[in-house]
This record gives sequence, C-alpha cells and structure tokens, in this order.
Amino acid sequence: MPIERSESQTGELLSCILADVRSLMESGCVNSVSDVGDHHRRLLERFEDFVGAVLVGHLENEAVDIMACDFTDFLGSHFSVEETIMSLLEYPGEEVHKQQHRRFLDEVRHLLRMLPLGVGTYGDFAVMAGGWLLKHEGTFDAELAEHAAAVIAGKTQLGVE
Ligand SMILES: [Fe+2]
Ligand SMILES: [Fe+2]
Repeated sequence: MPIERSESQTGELLSCILADVRSLMESGCVNSVSDVGDHHRRLLERFEDFVGAVLVGHLENEAVDIMACDFTDFLGSHFSVEETIMSLLEYPGEEVHKQQHRRFLDEVRHLLRMLPLGVGTYGDFAVMAGGWLLKHEGTFDAELAEHAAAVIAGKTQLGVE
C-alpha cells in the first residue's frame, strides 16, 4: 500500500534526504576511484536539480519531468561506469552489485512511465530514488570503493603503476 504524505511532509523528507545524499557523496568514502567520484558528483548535481524543482513546488511542471528523466538517464550511465570498473578489478561482488543496479533502474523507469498516468508524484519518486541512493552508496558502493582501494594499494606495494 503506498504511503500517503502531505506535500509539506514530502518536502521536509526530501530536504533531509538531499542533505544526507550530499554529505555522503562529498565525504569521499564512495569516491576513492576517481572516475566513480566524478560520476557521483555529476549524479548528485542532477539529483539536486530535480529535488530543487520538486521542492519549489513545480510538481506538474514539464521541467520536473525533464529533470527526472535526465537523472534516470545519467543513473544508467553511472551504473555502466561502475560496472566497467568492477570487471577491470575482477570484483567478487560484481554480479550481486549489478543485480541491484538493474532492479533499481527497472523500478525508476517503471515509476517514470506511471507518473504521466497520474500514478504517484514526482515527490514520491524523489523520496524513493534518494532513499535508494543513500542506502546503495553507503553499502554496495562503499564496499566497491574499499575493494578498489585495496587493489590499488596492493599494486603500489608491488611497484606496479
Ligand atoms: Fe554509485
Ligand atoms: Fe553501485
């Protein structure tokens, strides 16, 4: 059953989620591989633009839809970057991590298709996407970053550049 929230509750929740996503992505813990770090910054910018538009109340605005689509498209390319790095590093958690990406992308694409049909709101979409990002970046991506750091440290010790 969908959670019913007022617009102001959604706004408050989104402000908290945005602050948490911002501090996580700026903390560096998920950014030890520079390509991934750069991608996380760009993903955050898109999420901030989208949430900003939702927070100022442009819920029915076409611009919000464009930002939601832009965020979702960038998410797809962000996942591809991470997955390429996983393959290069022969990351043991690759399959499970990829599965998380696939499921989430399917879910956000499905929700985006439903929004114009009046099912859900952009606010709900942003809360769901932000919550997922927080959880994923703090767990799956943090583990990947740890693995990458260990591989890089191991190669440096062996004198491999
Ligand atoms: Fe990520
Ligand atoms: Fe990931």
